[in-house]
Amino acid sequence: MNDASTRTSRSARATGWMGALSALALAGCSGPVNNQQGYMPEQPVAFSHAVHAGQYELDCQYCHVGAEKSRHAGVPSSSVCMNCHTQVKKDSPEIQKVAASVAENKPLEWVRVHRLPDHAYFNHASHVTSGLKCQTCHGPVQEMVRLEQVEPMTMGWCLDCHRETAAAQVSALPPSAPRSGELLAMSTGAPPPAPLKEPRILQPPTDCSSCHR
Ligand code: HEC
Ligand code: HEC
Ligand code: HEC
Ligand code: HEC
Ligand code: HEC
Repeated sequence: MNDASTRTSRSARATGWMGALSALALAGCSGPVNNQQGYMPEQPVAFSHAVHAGQYELDCQYCHVGAEKSRHAGVPSSSVCMNCHTQVKKDSPEIQKVAASVAENKPLEWVRVHRLPDHAYFNHASHVTSGLKCQTCHGPVQEMVRLEQVEPMTMGWCLDCHRETAAAQVSALPPSAPRSGELLAMSTGAPPPAPLKEPRILQPPTDCSSCHR
């Protein structure tokens, strides 16, 4: 596909969703589905982040394995819970619900807390690998007995951070693992290889089509 036709189909799509949005506004539908700061639904099992991520200091990505490499952070399957709960508190009625979910091969129906409307695009990987902490966007999860949406997660909220980050000229995190030459240098006492390139300055987008695609 050549450049011109890419541009045409992009703007055609943009017109499509903008049209749909203004139709919603005209119909007097106020309903941005994400406008739920403070939302704290009851869950099918009384799972506590304060116990698991706080008291026992489990890493967030032990359970939310997608956060660094894909669009969705993901919620763990019941079998991940049973890594510990075949031993820990196995007589608890709450744990028996988890065990039953594995035995019957029926996923627990966790109630989704954060949800952007379909017309907005958000990707965890690009945010987490640039060095942002989960807590910047999700609040002090490690203190929550029941999970709650802390930030508004509106377009203005996204844009405020994007503008401030661009203005502050922040560098992206360097990759955490040592490169091959560096490991060799450490083990042999040879001089380490020169850095691959200058640190990358973060440039979060502010154009409509980055978040509405
Ligand atoms: C032992 C597994 C486990 C660990 C560790 C864990 N979580 Fe979770 N997380 C879950 C489960 C299960 C749910 C779904 C139930 C709930 O919302 O409480 C969840 C839900 C969430 C949600 C809400 C998802 C939605 O529906 O919008 C966020 C945000 C979250 N976790 C962030 C974190 C952060 C940040 C950490 C580390 C500080 C963390 N979690 C550590 C298992 C875990
Ligand atoms: C820059 C802000 C930001 C950061 C940093 C962030 N999140 Fe999220 N998170 C969001 C937004 C926005 C949503 C709603 C996404 C949607 O509905 O498409 C979300 C949704 C979620 C969900 C539920 C939906 C899903 O994607 O699975 C989980 C679980 C979650 N986040 C966990 C985490 C964890 C764990 C971390 C850290 C490793 C993290 N988040 C870092 C903004 C963030
Ligand atoms: C790494 C080990 C580990 C994993 C994985 C784990 N837990 Fe736990 N869980 C614990 C520990 C430790 C306790 C605290 C036990 C105590 O209070 O003595 C606990 C307590 C609980 C309790 C409270 C039980 C009660 O009656 O007091 C529930 C419910 C629970 N976990 C659910 C889950 C769920 C759901 C998952 C999977 C999303 C999960 N756990 C994953 C270690 C784990
Ligand atoms: C706390 C700061 C912060 C918040 C809040 C935030 N972002 Fe970002 N965003 C970033 C950073 C940092 C980058 C990475 C820029 C880079 O790599 O140059 C980024 C990159 C992006 C990108 C381009 C990369 C990609 O994934 O395609 C999109 C799109 C994006 N953000 C959408 C959103 C949306 C939608 C929201 C709100 C729901 C949001 N962001 C909230 C800081 C933030
Ligand atoms: C950094 C990401 C980001 C950028 C850039 C962005 N938006 Fe959004 N936009 C969102 C998110 C997230 C939502 C959903 C949350 C909300 O309604 O506030 C949204 C919602 C909207 C809505 C629906 C509002 C409502 O009340 O339902 C419209 C219209 C919109 N954006 C237009 C635009 C236009 C026009 C641009 C370019 C000038 C733009 N957006 C740029 C993230 C972004």
